[in-house]
Amino acid sequence: MSVLDADYWNNRYLNGQAGWDLGEISTPLKAYINQLQKKDFAILIPGAGNAHEAVYLLENGFKNVTVIDFAQKALDNLRLKLTSFDSQHFHLIQDDFFNHHGEYDLMMEQTFFCAIDPFRRTDYVKHAHQLLAKDGKIVGLMFNKIFPFEGPPFGGSKEEYEQLFQAHFKIELMEEAHNSVLPRQGSELFVKLIKK
Ligand SMILES: C[S@@+](CC[C@H](N)C(=O)[O-])C[C@H]1O[C@@H](n2cnc3c(N)ncnc32)[C@H](O)[C@@H]1O
Repeated sequence: MSVLDADYWNNRYLNGQAGWDLGEISTPLKAYINQLQKKDFAILIPGAGNAHEAVYLLENGFKNVTVIDFAQKALDNLRLKLTSFDSQHFHLIQDDFFNHHGEYDLMMEQTFFCAIDPFRRTDYVKHAHQLLAKDGKIVGLMFNKIFPFEGPPFGGSKEEYEQLFQAHFKIELMEEAHNSVLPRQGSELFVKLIKK
């Protein structure tokens, strides 16, 4: 398997091999953001890539949006897209998610969990837990399928994720998304996981 380091991901962007990128925010996350009231929530988007969620949040008046990705090209692309927004409202961090420290109310999951080596999943859970404030939550999408090839993306099942998260998070919601984009219909879970 390839080493899934910053060079690997950066080269995927440089070579136009970013097939995961929907080109816009996913419909489930858009619907979720639309009903959020607190515009000053500290929101983290890890492994954000072209970060369509960040653009959508800023367009909709959110004031504390942090994006982390270790691929330089992704952040370069994003910087150009954010020139019209108040720079006090967003933070772009080029770093490894697992090295990042901070305190957030909400972490948005969109095709990041499935991009990391499965052996790091427990680290993801523990690190997300550390990064969240009291009552903080992970909200987003996780694949509910096993891919017939070596990842990324790496899939999984609801049962596996319940086992993985339950020690550190209350599973408020983990159900098949009802409003997925067409190519992902029936293959992803919408999750709301509250920090214990
Ligand atoms: C499959 S892409 C998804 C990008 C974006 N969320 C989307 O849905 O278009 C995974 C992203 O995670 C980033 N990534 C992978 N491992 C990372 C890590 N340990 N720290 C920071 N970024 C990471 C990659 O550079 C890539 O941009």
